[in-house]
Amino acid sequence: MAIVAPFVSGLQRRVLREMPTRSRIHSFEDARRLARRRLPRLVFDFVEGAAGREIGAARNEARFDEILLKSRVLVDVNRRSLTTSILGNEFAVPFGIAPMGMCNLACPGADRFLAEAAREFDMPVCLSSAGSSALEDMQRWAGGRAWFQLYFGQSAEASLARVDRAAAAGYKTLILTVDVPQISRRIRDIRNGFGLPFRMTARSFWDFATHPGWSLRMLGAGVPAPRNFGASRSESGFDRCASRSTDWSFLRKLRERWQGVLIVKGVKSPEDAVPVQEIGADAIYVSNHGARQLDGDPPAIDLLPLIRKAVGPEYPLLFDSGVRNGEDVVKALAMGADFVMLGRPLLFALGAEGKMGLNAMLECISEDTSLTMAQLGITEISGMGEHVLFGSATDGSG
Ligand SMILES: Cc1cc2nc3c(=O)[nH]c(=O)nc-3n(C[C@H](O)[C@H](O)[C@H](O)COP(=O)(O)O)c2cc1C
Repeated sequence: MAIVAPFVSGLQRRVLREMPTRSRIHSFEDARRLARRRLPRLVFDFVEGAAGREIGAARNEARFDEILLKSRVLVDVNRRSLTTSILGNEFAVPFGIAPMGMCNLACPGADRFLAEAAREFDMPVCLSSAGSSALEDMQRWAGGRAWFQLYFGQSAEASLARVDRAAAAGYKTLILTVDVPQISRRIRDIRNGFGLPFRMTARSFWDFATHPGWSLRMLGAGVPAPRNFGASRSESGFDRCASRSTDWSFLRKLRERWQGVLIVKGVKSPEDAVPVQEIGADAIYVSNHGARQLDGDPPAIDLLPLIRKAVGPEYPLLFDSGVRNGEDVVKALAMGADFVMLGRPLLFALGAEGKMGLNAMLECISEDTSLTMAQLGITEISGMGEHVLFGSATDGSG
């Protein structure tokens, strides 16, 4: 190792010098294309991959394209605000960062960049139970804007201990993810031998060797690992995300234990939404996990009106799965969401250009949201509703 060290650090300097100084990201497609080039295949596939044949993932995106918006003219939209209130907080934008495990695989320091972006853009950032940074660090970096996402994990006791740890670290908002009874078959990951901890295979060795920029940065920073699962080794890696041995009683127990805001993520039907609301969760986070769990899921955006109808007009709903730009943010708000979360676009941007890419992607989505509002004749997020959807019952065009 000592012999190769000067070579490695020289190469590292060269690779880092080659990082562009101005972002080339102007859209989700840019971020994806650049990430595909710069990330090892195994990492890119982990981010982009989904359950089964990945038709559900394509459907999430395609359905957004079918939803049309209704422009209005001659409205004074010179002064527009993206400020949004949700669950007792006011944020500068109507979107935040979805919980994603192992973000530091996209680039070293990714979690920290996400937390800093939460501060800079004034929005929430969720840290996953499978996150690659300690929850205490994340909350500090985010200046109090971090929300903690809980996977049930090994046992009720282990989960509740993690909840206590989050409370002690100053978290006020907890998200319980309920759509992972078991991790689904993600064929790209199986094919690539991707798992935790990393195992080096001939295929992954070649993958890393042909992506020296990423590999050298990782070599310097150390291989990321989950940092919030506790010490128990009774289950390894991603298996610790599965909630196969729990039921509704855990949600009741959690509601009693957690004094802060409780959000339940991954509710996909009105039949499940109603009891979640009755048990006393403060909000539902409608999501199909980016179709990473069930290829046959309907497009997540189609679930929003159904769940909105079941829980009533006042109950807070968050949404993710398939949001790629500001128009999608507006569409989700119009379909019944109060707040929208961003997933893959941000990991691709981090993989493409690190912190610079992340901030560029967030700027794009923010600007696009505001400009879309201008086309629709809307100046406030609260002015969003079904009437901005072309062809809806209330838009008057049909
Ligand atoms: C790489 C990756 C890791 C994820 N890890 C988690 C996780 O640990 N917990 C969780 O609740 N959701 C997780 N998700 C799902 C996201 O929170 C979100 O639901 C999904 O990314 C939305 O789909 P989209 O990114 O295609 O818009 C993950 C998603 C990705 C892409």
